[in-house]
Amino acid sequence: MSDSTGKVVVVTGAASGIGRACADRIDADGGVALRTDIAPAAADDDAVVTTLDVTDEAAVAAFMADAHREHGRIDGVVTAAGVAGGGPVHLVDEPSWDRVLDINLKGTFFAAKHAIVHMLEQDPIDGERGSVVTIASVEGLEGTAGGSAYNASKGGVVLLTKNLAIDYGGRGIRANAICPGFIDTPMLNGVFGMPGMEHVAESIVREHSLRRLGQPVEIASVASFLLGPDASFVTGQALAVDGGYTAGRDHGITDLMGL
Ligand code: NAI
Repeated sequence: MSDSTGKVVVVTGAASGIGRACADRIDADGGVALRTDIAPAAADDDAVVTTLDVTDEAAVAAFMADAHREHGRIDGVVTAAGVAGGGPVHLVDEPSWDRVLDINLKGTFFAAKHAIVHMLEQDPIDGERGSVVTIASVEGLEGTAGGSAYNASKGGVVLLTKNLAIDYGGRGIRANAICPGFIDTPMLNGVFGMPGMEHVAESIVREHSLRRLGQPVEIASVASFLLGPDASFVTGQALAVDGGYTAGRDHGITDLMGL
């Protein structure tokens, strides 16, 4: 976020992984990251993380109101709180489905809604009242075996974000979704660490054209761009930041070609 001195940005899921990296980048850019998470800050993190469950609408509303009162503005929100979960649907029970949809999709709705309430109240700066950056997934752009609840939640985040862009563009609020490929975070390590997942993990890495996982800072740099003035004409996009994961299939042909 170039020229971001003093910009106030709420980050959900900021105690870990992508959310933490986004918050660190906002601070490094000269902004003020207001870090929230249901979990406390990690042991190696001295940042202040406010306890906030994104599925609790009253708590999200109260946090945004306090933040707006204290800082005078909410210039941005990054919705990184999320959980993995899914399976073939005949094996997914209702509480498991609800947990994923509630945190990933409804939690994004609550965070965006209550940030936007305050963005609408504030005067525009350089024509802009605010920027919403949602963290969706490549799994919100295409299906994945066993993805069910997770993919449904992330597909929902993509279209919710596009609707935010349409509804609030005329009021100077931009909204974009980042769709990360597979990123080296505690969430992914948890999934890859499950029994029998070694082959799957190898295959997933290979399916990225760059043949590696992404790092949280590589998502944070794009969030920084989308929050800031360099992205002033970018809204309603679902931007894959995925090392080529969604570029297309390989099927091992590059190996035959000696690549
Ligand atoms: P992570 O597990 O490292 O961080 C997620 C954070 O969300 C955690 O700190 C957790 O405490 C918090 N959280 C969970 N439930 C919450 C709730 N109810 N209220 C508030 N906070 C809550 O995971 P990671 O990988 O950093 O994920 C961040 C976002 O990026 C998630 O939405 C995830 O779905 C998405 N994503 C991750 C990818 C990956 O490969 N790691 C790929 C694509 C998207």
